[in-house]
Amino acid sequence: MSPKQPDFRRYLVPVNTGSTQQLFTDCLVVGAGVAGLRAALEAAEQCDVTLICKGNLSDSNTWNAQGGIATVLAIEDSFESHIEDTLRAGCGICDKTVVERVVKEGPGLIRQLADWGTKFDRVDGKIDVTREGGHSHSRVAHALGDSTGRGIAEALIEKVRQQVNINIIENFYTIDLLTCPDGRCLGVVGHRPHSGTEIIWAAATILATGGAGRLYRETTNPEVATADGHAMAYRAGVVLRDMEMMQFHPTTLYIAGASRALITEALRGEGAILRDSTGKAFMKKYHPDGELAPRDVVSRAILDRMLKTGSTHVYLDLRHFDKPHFAKRFPLISEICGSFDIDIATDMIPVRPSAHYMVGGVKIDLEAQTNVPGLFACGEVSSTGLHGANRLGSNSLLEGLVFGKIAGQSALMWLQKMAGPEYRKMTIEIPPSDRSRLDTEDVRNSLRALMWRNVGITRQAKHLDEAQEIIRFWQRYVMDKVFERPFGWETQNMLTVSLLMAQAAATRTESRGVHFRSDFPERDDAAFAHHIEQVRENA
Ligand code: FUM
Repeated sequence: MSPKQPDFRRYLVPVNTGSTQQLFTDCLVVGAGVAGLRAALEAAEQCDVTLICKGNLSDSNTWNAQGGIATVLAIEDSFESHIEDTLRAGCGICDKTVVERVVKEGPGLIRQLADWGTKFDRVDGKIDVTREGGHSHSRVAHALGDSTGRGIAEALIEKVRQQVNINIIENFYTIDLLTCPDGRCLGVVGHRPHSGTEIIWAAATILATGGAGRLYRETTNPEVATADGHAMAYRAGVVLRDMEMMQFHPTTLYIAGASRALITEALRGEGAILRDSTGKAFMKKYHPDGELAPRDVVSRAILDRMLKTGSTHVYLDLRHFDKPHFAKRFPLISEICGSFDIDIATDMIPVRPSAHYMVGGVKIDLEAQTNVPGLFACGEVSSTGLHGANRLGSNSLLEGLVFGKIAGQSALMWLQKMAGPEYRKMTIEIPPSDRSRLDTEDVRNSLRALMWRNVGITRQAKHLDEAQEIIRFWQRYVMDKVFERPFGWETQNMLTVSLLMAQAAATRTESRGVHFRSDFPERDDAAFAHHIEQVRENA
């Protein structure tokens, strides 16, 4: 276990069960992406479920996912091939048992999704699959063209809404996991805009809070992705793993001032060409697979071209595409381009990389159990062992689906041993701090810029050390305060997780998968063919 961070307090807010509104539930699911929704449906087969999410049900990385969901459906494809591609992408630190399970459960769960209403794109009645970077066969299914995540989420949300024993609470900001002295998870303390602090006691809690992209200035992630789940788990003594592994997506729309819309990899799968600002195609120089090289290779190649040409971006060239086919197959990208007057027949799309997917996270076992009894995790917040050091594109929706189901089943098994949600009298006081206040908005913006510069696509010791020093400085003035609104708690969480990421990245003195160290450019299997785990001191 290494490395650790200074021991800030266990809870972000005071807790007093005598004066706080309380709810009770069998199974609490925190988060409403594919994993949380799927977990809620599974648990609801046999118990009452409360599903809480930070924003609306549609505020998730799942909802925004364009690319698709990978699974073996084509006749010429095989489980062995999907397993091999996933292991290759993971660069030596995948858990093979997990990879096999996820790959093999994929086709059945995707057909189930179709039965539940996801409108997958079809050819001659069969779910159509396309080929994407790192995959040896066509195996990426899409729904609604390039809005696959929305297609999946809408069907799951509709099904969740139909279950009378699932209580959905939107706009519930989860502040902390509640644990008792024997270490068990008892539920959460959170906040709702109109009712203030609330406690939800749960016999089983499933963490499915999603990603951490908002720690970076450039990201494809929605505003909710501020790593709250990682941070609250860390405070509660949960083991985090591979926190240095943030995956950057090579192609995000780059228009100064506009939000960083993802320009799906599927376009490169269908022949789009990357060109630098001089108009030169360059990917073949960096990798024999060209535009279909692994994402980390493409991201670094783009950065290199940006540096060499002194440009803020490169271009994605679709000018040879059949325009009506493009509009039909990629309606969302078509709309995004249209909204910026980019005519793909004559204009190229300005793109650059940005933070996209948190590969590391809360360590879970094959049954989605964390090291804290009663706490399960699934989806992007978790580290299952599927992705290793680099996620194969379109494997994450699949992982969320499979591990969402497993987490729901495991919660039900756990419930068989429990009498129900357990009320505990709790009084946690936090003394006021007399240290100066910093402008939290300024800290957050500066943190995101720092993470992008120093803990980004290319890392080195000097920059990682500097990042840690600056984050520790901010932490001294922010972590000691008690905030009353999500913005403050989010900023505390972002500082906590950013430091963990910088520490883990400094510890891994080699390059592997998405983690690239310019001062240690080679993979070092003798020293680092393993995970880096982090757990709170005194946990
Ligand atoms: O490029 C994409 O559409 C992204 C897919 C993914 O992150 O899996």
